[in-house]
Amino acid sequence: MVVGGGSREHTLVWKLAQSPKVNEIYVAPGNAGTTKIAHNLDINPTDIESLAKVAQEKRVELVVVGPEAPLADGIVDRFQGIGIPIFGPTKAATQIESSKVFAKELMQKHKIPCARSVSFSTYTQAKKYIQRQQPPLVVKADGLAAGKGVTVAHSIPQALEALGIIMEAKAFGAAGDRVVIEERLSGREISVFAFTDGKTVVPMVAARDYKPVFDGDNGPNTGGMGSYSPPHFYKPPLAKKVKETIMEPAVKAMHKEKRLYKGVLYGGLMITNEGPKVLEFNARFGDPESQVTLPLLKTDLVDILLAVINGNLNQVNVEWSEDACVGVVMASAGYPGKYKTGFPITGLDNLDKDILVFHAGTKMGSGGEVLTNGGRVLTVVAMGKTIAEAREKVYLNLPRIHFEGCHYRRDIAEIKKR
Ligand code: AMP
Ligand code: GLY
Repeated sequence: MVVGGGSREHTLVWKLAQSPKVNEIYVAPGNAGTTKIAHNLDINPTDIESLAKVAQEKRVELVVVGPEAPLADGIVDRFQGIGIPIFGPTKAATQIESSKVFAKELMQKHKIPCARSVSFSTYTQAKKYIQRQQPPLVVKADGLAAGKGVTVAHSIPQALEALGIIMEAKAFGAAGDRVVIEERLSGREISVFAFTDGKTVVPMVAARDYKPVFDGDNGPNTGGMGSYSPPHFYKPPLAKKVKETIMEPAVKAMHKEKRLYKGVLYGGLMITNEGPKVLEFNARFGDPESQVTLPLLKTDLVDILLAVINGNLNQVNVEWSEDACVGVVMASAGYPGKYKTGFPITGLDNLDKDILVFHAGTKMGSGGEVLTNGGRVLTVVAMGKTIAEAREKVYLNLPRIHFEGCHYRRDIAEIKKR
């Protein structure tokens, strides 16, 4: 059973369906794309009790959790309680994502490189601190805020405004009871991932995410408008350094803090002049990074998930393709602001055979047609021997897909010399 309904979860379902060990897949709630390879269940990912009940009824033998909210709510603890194998960290271990104050304290205590920061639990003290700083500085709500809790402020008034939204207006509820204020880091951003059973750390291929909605990184931030893997600048020596100075120490630190971390650890990093530093940790697969990393995985995903759960990841040989993968998100008009849904999507059957289309906000219409049902609608993915080849394939196919108001970035995986 896969928990979630986005493009990341469609990718997980697609990958799991390739395993000879998998007979049937349930997905809650899934989307139009998952209906062909799985049984969609009309259950919200945070309705843990209903998920536990249905998993028992259907005799589910393995659960994979996509989004952070159910992890933060303790879905893993609940399923462990009923003896159903589940992939993901416990509630206590998910704090590495669900509390930025916790994550920063962990990194500071265990000397994991990250931005210098101070945490506050009152508005007045945070305000006084900000007024004494030089811009730029970064203001972050402590808790989960669906990617909207971080402001990179270029002036003191902007930082104070962000603080007000978090701590006074309480735009993110209790997620804004505390804030982290930190220095701005500059460099290249990258998403790195590792499977871990709490002891062994096995890196996945890394990826680049493109957050701003428009070409050239303009416009407001989104959940991610595209991605590619592997990033051209992420060479083996850097990957080794990230593993040895960030990913392994983080897993070890969680063990020492008695929050054994099992699942996939996602490091959002900045590659600075002083080396790689952590912007944030997430407790799950990335979206849209999964759409360009899981297709490169050669090993049976089920073997990896079970080894993580059973604590014998050191016995699995995880292999990755040498190819490159590029994914572009097609979004609804207005996204990441207000948008309309319910428009028919055409052209999906008119694509080159090796193009992968992972659905996000889609649903089946009454006549079996695919309709838009969200802000991010599809991730269109191509593989190639090189990033340039994969990029060319994906952009050749994208114009064949259409829905009213659809838009996508034209510069995903465009590699500029610097
Ligand atoms: P986070 O949710 O912490 O990853 O923050 C969201 C985005 O804000 C990141 O992807 C970065 O682009 C940016 N960001 C966060 N922290 C910093 C920082 N210390 N310096 C520069 N940019 C940052
Ligand atoms: N790609 C951003 C995220 O998954 O949080």
